[in-house]
Amino acid sequence: MEHGNGQHLKVAALADLHYTKDAKGTASDLFHEIAERADVCVLCGDLTDYGLPEEAEVLVADLKPVLAKPCLAVLGNHDFESDAADKLTGLFVQAGIHLLNGEAMEINGVGFAGVPGFGGGFGKSMLNAWGEKVIKEFVHEAVEQSLRLERALSRLRTPHKIAVLHYAPIRETVIGENPEIFPFLGTSRLEEAIDRYDVRIALHGHAHNGQLHGKTMRGADVYNVAIPVLRRENASARPYRMLEIPLSQPAR
Ligand SMILES: [Fe+2]
Ligand SMILES: [Fe+2]
Repeated sequence: MEHGNGQHLKVAALADLHYTKDAKGTASDLFHEIAERADVCVLCGDLTDYGLPEEAEVLVADLKPVLAKPCLAVLGNHDFESDAADKLTGLFVQAGIHLLNGEAMEINGVGFAGVPGFGGGFGKSMLNAWGEKVIKEFVHEAVEQSLRLERALSRLRTPHKIAVLHYAPIRETVIGENPEIFPFLGTSRLEEAIDRYDVRIALHGHAHNGQLHGKTMRGADVYNVAIPVLRRENASARPYRMLEIPLSQPAR
């Protein structure tokens, strides 16, 4: 299946839909616009509010126009709340959504790799695996998520690689949130994976009060596509970021 206009792949990205059982129709206009304008839709987690299969069913029904083209997603922490992530995954996959949980895929020569990610903090303030068992388990999950992202990225041979996350890989895009919760919004361990594999663009959500854009140490663009962030930036536009990925640029 061919997507794109021959020169660019138009990727519409958004996060934090937080769909509830009563949300039917709330994002219909948004999804119709994305279906019309984009070649690919990327959903960066918190698709549902409480991680309930009923919420996922309402979302899948509203997403129908978008699903005529490739739609990629990762789960967010809210999608895990009811301990039904497997059920949600099944529903999304059955609807034709490419749910990335350590997987990679290629669309018209553009590579995508995704994991939900995890917290743990940034830079020198990052939590280390030391002391209590439960601290080590927390850090282990962050390391594991980062390794899964690396493994997925290592399978891509495309010049353009896009990392799809729920948690933030850098501190810059969570600024605006209360600094006391920064460690729960993401971790630099994800940034290490992104930079090791020459990712050009990383997309995430989760930090509803964060910033739109930042860069990793090696210069990858990081976009916080949480709907509240996009709305704050431009209240009159529908909340998604459109990325136009050039298809002919050689590998760097
Ligand atoms: Fe959220
Ligand atoms: Fe979240």
